[in-house]
Amino acid sequence: MNIEQAKLRIQELKKKINKHNHAYYIENSPTITDAEFDLIYKELLDIEKKFPLLVEESSPTQRVGGKANNSFSQVVHEKPMLSLSNAFDLKDLEAFDKRIRDELGVKEVEYAVEPKFDGLAVTLHYINSIFSLGATRGDGNTGEDVTHNIKTIKSLPIRLTHGICAKKIEVRGEVIMHKDDFNKLNSEQKSLGLKVFANPRNAAAGSLRQLDSAVAANRPLRFYAYSIDSEEIIKSQEEGLNILRQLKIPTSGLSRTVVGVKQLIDYFQYIEGIRETLPYDIDGVVYKVNSLNHQDELGFVSKAPRWAIAHKFAAEQAETEILDITVQVGRTGSITPVARLKPVFVSGVTVTNATLHNEDEMRRKDILIGDYVRIRRAGDVVPEVINAIHNKRPENARKYMMPTSCPVCRSKLIKELGEAVLRCNAGMDCKAQKKQSLMHFCSRKAMDIDGLGEKIIDQLIEVNLINTFSDIYKIKKDQLTGLERFAEKSAENLIKSIEKSKKTTLGKFIYSLGIRNIGEATSADIAKHFGSIDNIIEQDEDSLQQVDDIGPTVAKSIGKYFSNERNKKQIISLVEQGIVWDEIESLDRHANSKLNGLTFVLTGTLKSLKREEAKSLIQNCGGKVVGSVSKKTSYLVAGEEAGSKLNNAIALNVQVISEDEFINLTKDTE
Ligand code: IVH
Repeated sequence: MNIEQAKLRIQELKKKINKHNHAYYIENSPTITDAEFDLIYKELLDIEKKFPLLVEESSPTQRVGGKANNSFSQVVHEKPMLSLSNAFDLKDLEAFDKRIRDELGVKEVEYAVEPKFDGLAVTLHYINSIFSLGATRGDGNTGEDVTHNIKTIKSLPIRLTHGICAKKIEVRGEVIMHKDDFNKLNSEQKSLGLKVFANPRNAAAGSLRQLDSAVAANRPLRFYAYSIDSEEIIKSQEEGLNILRQLKIPTSGLSRTVVGVKQLIDYFQYIEGIRETLPYDIDGVVYKVNSLNHQDELGFVSKAPRWAIAHKFAAEQAETEILDITVQVGRTGSITPVARLKPVFVSGVTVTNATLHNEDEMRRKDILIGDYVRIRRAGDVVPEVINAIHNKRPENARKYMMPTSCPVCRSKLIKELGEAVLRCNAGMDCKAQKKQSLMHFCSRKAMDIDGLGEKIIDQLIEVNLINTFSDIYKIKKDQLTGLERFAEKSAENLIKSIEKSKKTTLGKFIYSLGIRNIGEATSADIAKHFGSIDNIIEQDEDSLQQVDDIGPTVAKSIGKYFSNERNKKQIISLVEQGIVWDEIESLDRHANSKLNGLTFVLTGTLKSLKREEAKSLIQNCGGKVVGSVSKKTSYLVAGEEAGSKLNNAIALNVQVISEDEFINLTKDTE
């Protein structure tokens, strides 16, 4: 075979393999046997071996092989990957539909409705029709590069050969595992004496985070898409899903368009009815405004779009007995009563503990040790005790008395005014809080120190090597080699990953400090807004509240944290140990301060600016953008086809300006 013949044959074989993969994975109707498929695949492998120059990235043989070195690299999402608000009942849905109709100024809204996959959110980039990048959601702004593992998903085309052709296509969806694939994988794992997974979602998560794609390739991962973005004009969610199907990218095939709350509920009930028969787990349905123009107009609040809502299935429940009640000390000192249960199987896992939240809640529900209780578990949320079954109460059931001092450090417990939670205020002087704060600091979404998990942290605290965050960066290799569980190599690896973690982002650094009420997303917002740690420390509670989504509680937590000298010293010490992050062009250092203190609402279609651009422009000039018009609104910027917001602005005497007038406001006058 010469090179020309090889080229031709490779093309033929690739086409065949892609066709059979599609028939097998998407249509569930293979037309050839596995052995026949293996023969075709082997022929391609053999030719590629002989002519290595002809191996293309899009070849089916290249699905395995990419390997992340010893960690995943970071991917900054061009558009953030957001989460969804939840609706739990009819009231929530009616409020959702009404808000949307009011804001758009229309009588009825068409919704695209679809199942909510219970997997892991990922984004895929196709450049010139070739799959080029797969990344996890991460904190919504920055995820991890898992291209090498996504490539092993055989139901996903590596080259797009049908449908639209665009320079760049970004597809978002979920990586999941089918229920039968999961059962098969678990029995294989069991027979090999390997780890068994609790449920398909955990199995998918564990597989997607494999550094070695050869391991991921043996795990039956799948991908289902729910959105597409490209320079092609797509008018609706429905059209987007159709384009995805033309591209041969898997979708649920269960989406519909409906109008009105009644039809939303009908769809929910329909999907709930067929839920068990679906090959994969879902945890609810998602309702999205179908028109993308309308989606644009509605925009986002916080981390969630205002044009979509998730309607979750009720959490699964089970009945069991409380064997004992103990308290747990949380990372920020909260003392939570926890019911120790007779093990019970619910939503795919065995539950042995369930939270009772706080003393008031436990008394209100009249829960005693020995009671039969109903517990509930939804997704990854901590299981909770719903209620006691009082008519089954045994005679020897007894009341649990909350402790008055911390079960770990013996400090006196305090209930702050207006709070339901009892607290140990010893901070890092309490061993329980110290351990959990250190675990949080090292965790993946924080400083991401590989190898510093619970057991090693316990050990290092025990031998007094670490008491504060900055102690971690002072550890020397020979201090580790003398310890149990540490050989030369493992000590070296830990030092390397500690060293590597020094390069981080300001958002992750803030998150890793473990400030009460400050999650990942808020940390990222604060970092973006203020740009530097010095700048953040200087802010008072009022200026902290200038950050979108920061209310008084969060501002108070931050203020309290930075007013503590010990915390400030900790930060200085960490920076002295060499922790660095890239400078951020903060929104606080305004391009100009023309719009300082002004609040804007945008409506209608703007002609020269995209909505996101207009929003950034306002923020960069010190202004604030909110979703709806109120008396406090300074200006309504009205584009074409402005809806009810315009009427509201007129009624409330809010000044209405055109796009051009708005742009003029942001410019410096000579
Ligand atoms: S749309 C702007 N559609 O749910 C947000 N999300 O809470 C757009 N999810 O992790 C999300 N199925 O990956 C959308 N049909 C579906 C979904 C879905 C599952 C996940 C999503 C994200 C989470 C959001």
